[in-house]
Amino acid sequence: MPKQIRVCCGRRCIEGGAAGIMQRLEQNFGLSSPGQNEQVDLDFCSCTGYCEQGPNVVINEEFIITSATPGTITEKITREEQIKMVTPDFESIQHNDFLGDLL
Ligand code: FES
Repeated sequence: MPKQIRVCCGRRCIEGGAAGIMQRLEQNFGLSSPGQNEQVDLDFCSCTGYCEQGPNVVINEEFIITSATPGTITEKITREEQIKMVTPDFESIQHNDFLGDLL
């Protein structure tokens, strides 16, 4: 089963370089755009609520990699012990920049 990888495309993460992170992931996993192969299911996602720690990448809807960069993201994903695992705090999503992005 491919690993599900979602790059946050909320305003703060885009400003922090999310597009470059997506490009690097596409290159490293052999995709020409967001999509799926045997290894990964790659796409963007909306704000996770961790804007202050972005850019953020969500793995399998369970774990989040904060402060992601194009240079380190693939290593952090493949070496799972380096992934900072934080259960998304959905309560905080209601009180952060997410709503600001919509207004
Ligand atoms: S914009 Fe990416 S976590 Fe909020």
